[in-house]
Amino acid sequence: MILVIGATGLLGGEICRRLASVGKPIRAMVRPTASQSRVENLTRLGATLAHGDLKDRASLDAACHGVEAVITTASTTLSRQPGDSIQTVDLEGQLRLIDAAKAARVRQFIYVSVSHHLDVDCPLTTAKRTVEAHLKRSGLTYAILAPTFFMEVWLSPALGFDAGKGTAQIYGSGANKIGWISLNDVAQFAVACLDNPAARNATIELGGPEALSPLEVVRQFEEAGGRKFQVEHVPEETLNAQRAAAADPLQQTFAALMIGYAHGDPVDMRMTLQKFPISLLSVKEYARRTVRA
Ligand SMILES: NC(=O)c1ccc[n+]([C@@H]2O[C@H](COP(=O)([O-])OP(=O)(O)OC[C@H]3O[C@@H](n4cnc5c(N)ncnc54)[C@H](OP(=O)(O)O)[C@@H]3O)[C@@H](O)[C@H]2O)c1
Repeated sequence: MILVIGATGLLGGEICRRLASVGKPIRAMVRPTASQSRVENLTRLGATLAHGDLKDRASLDAACHGVEAVITTASTTLSRQPGDSIQTVDLEGQLRLIDAAKAARVRQFIYVSVSHHLDVDCPLTTAKRTVEAHLKRSGLTYAILAPTFFMEVWLSPALGFDAGKGTAQIYGSGANKIGWISLNDVAQFAVACLDNPAARNATIELGGPEALSPLEVVRQFEEAGGRKFQVEHVPEETLNAQRAAAADPLQQTFAALMIGYAHGDPVDMRMTLQKFPISLLSVKEYARRTVRA
């Protein structure tokens, strides 16, 4: 039985779909406030639902009982309920989950963190690094996945990249390369880590098949769609000012991630792909699919 925390999220949902496709029994944590259609999708996959919350230790003890592995993707950066914050969930909730998994003698703990090359401190990266350190000290067999920017999030209208309208908001100069990765590929890695000696107590940086600057990404979309994009830059000074003036840890985190994007984050995947032979989605193919949709 594999326990997935964050199963109603984008990445966690895709991990459940892939686990089901290889016949792994899934226990998916859900909250009463979660999107009903996402919960129904999990039920359709055959997942058993574990009602719980990272803020509630007893629910974590119950959810961890009898599972072989825990995969956790949960985060409050996009999906939040009252009482959820980077402090209470991304930090304290994940620490609590590690303790519950240890008490339940779970065999493997797979934690979705964030790229270690992002060079701007913020509450989210501090929380992720603290959780990683706690996990490493816990004695649990672990795998830490550290992906860079997801295509489906950072090359989407939610972050100002709108292929439908042909407009792109670029953070910084747009000249520094990023190893954009599809969240579907992050899900493939999470599943490939299960019972895999190559993932034993490993921290794995994840990017896509090639690093491209945001301006190169725009060109790929222009070629795929056959039309020019209108590009607007958010200067790094503006992002620095946003970060300095941020009213809460979430705003501070978003500004810091945008500064990290401006600085770039290429990821060399050659060694990792030797151990995990996964076929990674390219930005070119993602652009083709997006403009066709
Ligand atoms: N986006 C990127 O570019 C990027 C890059 C690197 C790493 N990452 C990491 O990848 C993961 C993103 O996952 P995603 O895209 O699936 O996020 P998502 O769609 O926002 O899903 C977040 C999940 O966390 C759950 N959650 C939030 N608070 C919770 C709580 N108190 N107790 C239990 N569950 C809770 C949510 O449950 P509800 O549905 O009930 O709210 C949801 O299932 C995060 O860990 C993020 O830091 C993202």
